[in-house]
Amino acid sequence: MTRQIIVGNWKMNGLSRDSQELVKAITSGLPANSADVVVCPPFTQLGLLTDMLKPTPVKLGAQDCHQEVSGAHTGDISAPMLADLGVSYVVLGHSERRQEHGELDETVREKAMAATKAGLTPIVCIGETEDQRETGEHFDALGWQIKGSLPDGFNGILAYEPIWAIGTGLAATTDQIAETMKFLREELVRQFGEAGKVIKILYGGSVNAGNAATILPIPEVAGALVGGASLKADAFLSIVSAAS
Ligand code: G3P
Repeated sequence: MTRQIIVGNWKMNGLSRDSQELVKAITSGLPANSADVVVCPPFTQLGLLTDMLKPTPVKLGAQDCHQEVSGAHTGDISAPMLADLGVSYVVLGHSERRQEHGELDETVREKAMAATKAGLTPIVCIGETEDQRETGEHFDALGWQIKGSLPDGFNGILAYEPIWAIGTGLAATTDQIAETMKFLREELVRQFGEAGKVIKILYGGSVNAGNAATILPIPEVAGALVGGASLKADAFLSIVSAAS
């Protein structure tokens, strides 16, 4: 069985000293033979942390990249630039980017292609709104997001993050996660054939030290994408310990 993967998305948090301390605490407290661990600090910390992480099993991820390799895109960072820094993963299409930066499925798909081309593993996020869940349109919404956001031949990771569960302290229930994971797997196989059987699916949305042991064993859950709880070493390490 492949190892689960626990990804910490720090979002827009972390000055140099905090980031270094957090990484030190995580790497020194990592259980032996642990699940795979990825930390995704803000862009500004990537250069600093890459050297610290090199001798450890913890991998570095970014929170976004541009779809082009270079050019007139003020303020943006390309996938080759991330790879050049020693970054291995990139989170794409997070709902906060979709909402705050108007990112569309099509852009997310282009970014995923650019990331793969640069040798990074894209972690593409999808998730339904509270309204969609309440009106029973969530499966339709997720199916469309998979179709729009994942390129042909996608060989990255899919992260299912129900928007209503992000940062609310209210994770989806085990039944909701199990039912949605089953749907996502069927949809991946429907859209990608054989290749859809092996795409890893993470759950994200209020994963914490208290619920990780219940969420991570759910069938098809290949790991977790963790926001708030990834900023505290103890909580993050508890989640890592709950993973197989
Ligand atoms: O990408 C992780 C995320 O959106 C979940 O955040 O704070 O609910 O764990 P949080």
